[in-house]
Amino acid sequence: MSDIKSYETALNPQARAALKMQHPRVIWLTGLSGAGKSTIANELEVALNARGKHTYLLDGDNVRAGLCSDLGFSDQDREENIRRIAEVAKLFIDAGLIVTTAFISPFRRDRELARKIIGECHFIEVFIDTPISECERRDPKGLYSKARSGLLKNFTGIDSAYEPPAAPNIHINTIEDSVAHAVSKILEVIYKAEKTHILPAPPKK
Ligand code: ADX
Repeated sequence: MSDIKSYETALNPQARAALKMQHPRVIWLTGLSGAGKSTIANELEVALNARGKHTYLLDGDNVRAGLCSDLGFSDQDREENIRRIAEVAKLFIDAGLIVTTAFISPFRRDRELARKIIGECHFIEVFIDTPISECERRDPKGLYSKARSGLLKNFTGIDSAYEPPAAPNIHINTIEDSVAHAVSKILEVIYKAEKTHILPAPPKK
């Protein structure tokens, strides 16, 4: 590891972001399976795109089909899953994008690691708060009933823990907030942060 020195590219992250006229961010959605993370993440990305923002969406089921297809759902594998996603999101930050991530990310420690990897000033944590009773009632993939009948082990909320964020940047209660309202709440925070943050420095000559 000590034999590897990172190489500074000629074009820096500020130059890439400046061309896109935006402040790169990661909108990190966390919540139970079936809480509504993917639905909100998709609508958020569509809304950002309509406003001329350059975006990317990283979603649990998609990433687990590729980059993380070697990982399961033990605590250790979830930690590695979140670490890889955070590293990928960091690269997208360097590319100047606004990234939305939709992963259960059940453990506080792992979300804190993601915040550290990505960088505090880029990281917006959003708690998609849906009670487990409601997730189980929706059960869009039939996984809760599988877990209840013992066919699926280590299922979040059943026999694997979910640690809700203590102080998320945004708290969405999906029983009270519609998808549209959730999206506008997130957009408001993104735009507010855009105003209070110094705009990307001009590219180095
Ligand atoms: S995380 O815990 O590592 O953040 P991630 O968000 O990538 O999980 O993947 C969660 C998705 O995998 C769920 O939406 C569900 O479709 C599927 N899944 C399959 N097995 C499990 C399990 N044991 N616990 C939670 N989700 C599971």
